[in-house]
Amino acid sequence: MLLEVKNLSVYYYTLSGVVRGAEGISFSVREGEWITFVGESGSGKSTVAHAVMNLVPSPGRIVSGEVLFNGRNLLKLPGEELRKIRGKEMTMIFQDPMTSLDPLRTVGDQMVEAMTVHGVEEAEAKRKAKELLERVNLPGDRFNYYPHQLSGGQRQRVSIAIAMAFRPKLLIADEPTTALDVIVQDSIMDILNGMKEEGTSIYFVTHDISLAVERSDRIAVMYAGKLVEVGTVDQIVENPLHPYTKALIEAVPDLWKEGKVRAIPGYPPDLRSPPSGCRFHLRCPYAEAGLCNIEEPEFREVEKGHFVACHFPGVWRK
Ligand SMILES: Nc1ncnc2c1ncn2[C@@H]1O[C@H](COP(=O)(O)OP(=O)(O)OP(=O)(O)O)[C@@H](O)[C@H]1O
Ligand SMILES: [Mg+2]
Repeated sequence: MLLEVKNLSVYYYTLSGVVRGAEGISFSVREGEWITFVGESGSGKSTVAHAVMNLVPSPGRIVSGEVLFNGRNLLKLPGEELRKIRGKEMTMIFQDPMTSLDPLRTVGDQMVEAMTVHGVEEAEAKRKAKELLERVNLPGDRFNYYPHQLSGGQRQRVSIAIAMAFRPKLLIADEPTTALDVIVQDSIMDILNGMKEEGTSIYFVTHDISLAVERSDRIAVMYAGKLVEVGTVDQIVENPLHPYTKALIEAVPDLWKEGKVRAIPGYPPDLRSPPSGCRFHLRCPYAEAGLCNIEEPEFREVEKGHFVACHFPGVWRK
């Protein structure tokens, strides 16, 4: 297994209280697969993605768990060892590439540096950088541009080109296309798919489940800091087991063929004081008093490869 995350919890220690950004998260990513994390804003998708890189920003802290990358726990690795892995074997791209690109340096300089820090000769790095720009469909002359001279879609391509430099084993892409129009979005998805075909596992984050369905092998659904369901795309779309997953699918016209499309009523909870029991029980039409509001459901495998945290998985079909 390429990546195994076990019982991971991340809290943010803010002035107004402890925000339980992610709690008790366990999943794995296989070599060469595309897994997509979905869930509403604030459900903990970015928190988990950052924790996997061991890059949780302050005031966040990883309070428990393990992140095994090729069997090594990244949370216990000395900084120097970690830096050898990051940017080379595992890399991350962000929703807004301006946050990861340096506005004061040219695209080319930044690409070259990303390679020379890992020991590539400068001349070789330059040659490779131009080749990478072409692979993401940017003319080689963009090498001399500053980030602000590029469009949002072009900037995102630059950050992908940097991520591609070493053929990483894992690419984490946190909403990389959210700010882009549909055509550009599609071309970025194609580039990521090309990386997958060359053996890179794609760990994709989106709030748009229809985007997840198109390219993924598996889908992981988060709600209020918890992983609530994981399965293959077919398992999740054809046979969702968690009422929240069902609600997500019902909100998308292309996926929900059985009647009126519905929005999910209510709001996600405040993670400074999440609800007792199942965190979804306040919004769940199937919740049973005395159980769902008191006892937290265990995240368990109910059919091969299909995991869910619910006391009554798929209850609406019974
Ligand atoms: N730097 C921070 N300081 C305090 N709380 C934070 C911080 N970053 C995230 N949180 C909180 O942690 C929880 C999970 O946030 P996270 O950003 O992981 O959600 P998300 O699923 O990525 O949402 P989005 O779809 O909006 O990107 C939220 O309650 C959020 O308010
Ligand atoms: Mg996010």
